[in-house]
Amino acid sequence: MELKDVLLNLKIVMFGGKGGVGKTSCAASSAIWAAEHGRNTLIISTDPAHSLGDSLGVELLPGIPTLIEGIENLTALEINPKANMAEFQGLTNINPLEEMGMEDMMGGMSLLGDLEDLTSMNPPGIDEALAFGKILEFIETEHDFDLVIFDTAPTGHTLRFLGLPDTLSGWIGKLIKMRVKLGNMFGAIKRMFTREEKKKDNSLDVLEKLNQSIINAKDDLTNPIKNSFVIVMIPEEMAILETGRLLNELVKYEIPVSNIVVNQLYQDTNRLCDFCKTRREMQQKNLSKIREVFKDKLNKILIEVPLFKGEIREYEKLKEMGEYLIK
Ligand SMILES: Nc1ncnc2c1ncn2[C@@H]1O[C@H](COP(=O)(O)OP(=O)(O)O)[C@@H](O)[C@H]1O
Ligand SMILES: [Mg+2]
Repeated sequence: MELKDVLLNLKIVMFGGKGGVGKTSCAASSAIWAAEHGRNTLIISTDPAHSLGDSLGVELLPGIPTLIEGIENLTALEINPKANMAEFQGLTNINPLEEMGMEDMMGGMSLLGDLEDLTSMNPPGIDEALAFGKILEFIETEHDFDLVIFDTAPTGHTLRFLGLPDTLSGWIGKLIKMRVKLGNMFGAIKRMFTREEKKKDNSLDVLEKLNQSIINAKDDLTNPIKNSFVIVMIPEEMAILETGRLLNELVKYEIPVSNIVVNQLYQDTNRLCDFCKTRREMQQKNLSKIREVFKDKLNKILIEVPLFKGEIREYEKLKEMGEYLIK
C-alpha cells in the first residue's frame, strides 16, 4: 500500500528506525499531510529524547495533547512512557515487614527476610512492559482521532510483548500477583493488631487492564487494514543490516510493513564536490542493494527522499518533505 493510501485509510501508523535517520521529520510531514487531507490526526512521540515539538516548531508540554496552530485537525503529544511507573508504586514498593509494622523486630527472621527479597524485586522487563502499555493505551482508549501516528515506534525489543498476550500468566505476572497478595496478607495481619483502615489497592486491576489492552492492541497492530509500520533508513550498509533485523522482528510479531523510506540521498548534480561525489557513489551502491533486497525480494514500497540543503524544520520544510514522501 502506498504511503498516501496508508495515511488516508489506516488508523495507526508507526515510524521506526535508527536514531537520526529522519523518523521525526517523516512522521511530522506525514501527520501534516494527513491532517490537511481531512483526517483528524494525533501524532505522538514516545522517544525519551523528544524532538517532535522542535520539529513542528511548537512547545509541547509532557503528556499534554496540543492542537497545532495553523493546521486544522492536527494534535501533537510528547509522552514519557516511563513516567507512568509512578502509577505502579503500590506494586513496586511492597515490603511485607513494613506492612506489618514489624521490620525491626523481625528483620532477622530468615523466612520473612526471603519474602522481603522476593517482594522488593522488580521483575526484569516490567518497566518496559508498562511503557509499552502506555502506547497501547493510546491505541485502545476511545478517542475522536481518525489517525494516530507514532514517532518512534516500539523497537523489536519492546514488540516482544505482543508475542506475550498472556504476559500476566507468565512468570512476570505471577510474581507481581504474588507480591500484591503478600502485601494484602501482611496488611491484614497488621490490621488485626492495629485496627488500621484497609488501604485501597487496585494494582491487580491495573495489571488486568494492561493485559487486556495488550490483547486488544495486538489485534489492531497486526491488522493490515488498521496499522502499518514505516521503516526509515539511510543508504548505508549498517542501516541495511539493521533494517533487515527490524523487518525480521516485525514479521515475527505479524506487524504489517508496507513502506521503507530511504532518506538523505545525495542528488545527481554537477555541482557536487569530490567529497559529496564519493558519498553519493557509496549511497548509490547501497541504494541498489536496498532496491534488490527490500523492493524486489520483499515487495516493500521504497520512498526515496533527497538530502535537503538545510535542516527540515517547521511547516514549510515539513511540507516540502511531504511532497517526496507522497508522490
Ligand atoms: N532528507 C533530509 N535532508 C536534510 N536534513 C534531514 C533530512 N532528514 C532529516 N534531516 C535532519 O536530520 C536531523 C535528524 O532528523 P530527525 O527527523 O529528528 O531524525 P530521528 O527522529 O530519526 O532521530 C534533523 O536535524 C533533520 O532536520
Ligand atoms: Mg526523532
